[in-house]
Formats: sequence, C-alpha cells, structure tokens
Amino acid sequence: MNKERYFTRKKLDYSDSEIEEFSKSIFDQGYIIIENFFTTQTINKAKKYVEKTSNNFDLKSFSIRGDDMTDNILLDLKNSKDLKSFFIRILESSNLKNEEDENIHLVLRKCHSETNNRDSNKYHFDAYNLTLSMVIEPAIPNKRTNKLGNFYLHPNIRKFSSSLPLNIFIKLIFQNRLTRAIFKSKRMRDLFGFKEVVNTSSGSAIIFFGFRSIHGNDELSDNLSREVALFHYNDPFRNNWFIKKIEENRDKRNKDYYFEKNKLKHE
Ligand SMILES: [Fe+2]
Repeated sequence: MNKERYFTRKKLDYSDSEIEEFSKSIFDQGYIIIENFFTTQTINKAKKYVEKTSNNFDLKSFSIRGDDMTDNILLDLKNSKDLKSFFIRILESSNLKNEEDENIHLVLRKCHSETNNRDSNKYHFDAYNLTLSMVIEPAIPNKRTNKLGNFYLHPNIRKFSSSLPLNIFIKLIFQNRLTRAIFKSKRMRDLFGFKEVVNTSSGSAIIFFGFRSIHGNDELSDNLSREVALFHYNDPFRNNWFIKKIEENRDKRNKDYYFEKNKLKHE
C-alpha cells in the first residue's frame, strides 16, 4: 500500500467551512493560492520527473499530457482520491453538480525563455470547470528587468454552462488572433481588467474556474524557466457525443504529433 504523503494537509481533509471559504474566494477574487499545498517530497519528485523528461526529449520547453507519461509522482496525484474529492467538494460548494465518474486531466508544462515565447500570451478558457496549477518551479528573477512568465487571468468572465453553441461563440469572440494580439500588451490586459498573479512559490496551488476565466502567461526572459503541472476537473461537455468525437480525433492527432516529434513508437 502506498503511504506516501502528497499534500501538506493530510488527505486534504479541509472542513466544510474552509471549503466554502475557498469557493467564495474563487468567486469573489477569481482565484485562490494555497501555499505549501504539496509536500516538499512531492515537489522534489516532480522536479526530478521534469528534469528527466526534459533530458530524454532534449527539449527546454515542453508540454506533456498525463496519458503520454510513464509512471511518476504526477500520475499518482492525478489518480489521488483525496485530490478528486477535494475538487468535487469545491465544485459542490460552488453549486455545481458533478458526478464521481470523471477522471482528473493532467498536463505538465516546462517553459524556457529561449523556446517558449511562441507559446506565451495565449489567453484562453479551459475545457474543464476547475483548474489547479501546481507550482513546481517558479521563475526566479536574477535582475529587475526580468519577465517572469507571470500568470494573468480575467476571472469568471462567463458563467458555468454546458451549451455548446454558446461555448463556440465565446471562444470565437475571445480566442482569436486579434484578441491575442490585444491581450499581449500588459497595458491592454490592465485596461480589460486582467489580474496578475505574482509571488507564487514552489509547492503552491493556484485554483480557479478555468472554464469561466480567460487566462494565460506572460513571456519569460533572461534565460529563465518555470515548471507547472495543471490538474483539470469536470468537463461540462463530457456527455456530448459531438465533442467526444472531436476529442478522440484530437487526442489521436496529438499523440501522433507527440510521438513523431519525440521520435517514439506507439506501444
Ligand atoms: Fe488553461
């Protein structure tokens, strides 16, 4: 039996009032940061896995989904009943009914200034209602002018919804070349009411409603890098046949691309 302790708070046994407080803050402020959410041991193992993956693929920046990973601590977290129960409690406290038959979706991302600027400033809505960003390694500034790849979000700009036409409409309006060009400017992000999330430390969890909040990261500079694991939960379109087909196709394409890119063979 695996007795490893992943979370500083044992089994994530937060009281109902604490969960309500989290939920309220996510509604009011748009996000919460829980520092030292993950144990040092968990973070150290995650760092080792990032380093191993980076070396294996000889890539300074990469993004890898849980489905494409081999055994590691992040997959243990993805399959953690405690984490899933924590997510369900936050969603229920936010009056969002959810069934327990869903899996947590995981993406690990390492971004380096040399190779990441193409992927920065891509402001978007997540496909899942709840997102937890695990800060494995933040960018550590070494001089004042550094761009730290800070996280920006415009929280709760839309409601929870499982309407597909509305979702397509919102994505067309907010996720296009023009809006991305506009939101690339910090001045414009400030003007449009984006919030900047700063000072996150290794081991922190940033939790927000990814489906409702347009979000992304600024550029990195000066040879800096950062590492995050993203845990997503509760897909509003999980029972939609049309979306399922699109996702199956996309997953296959992504997998082919991933294996092609990394010169691997399908098992
Ligand atoms: Fe996202």
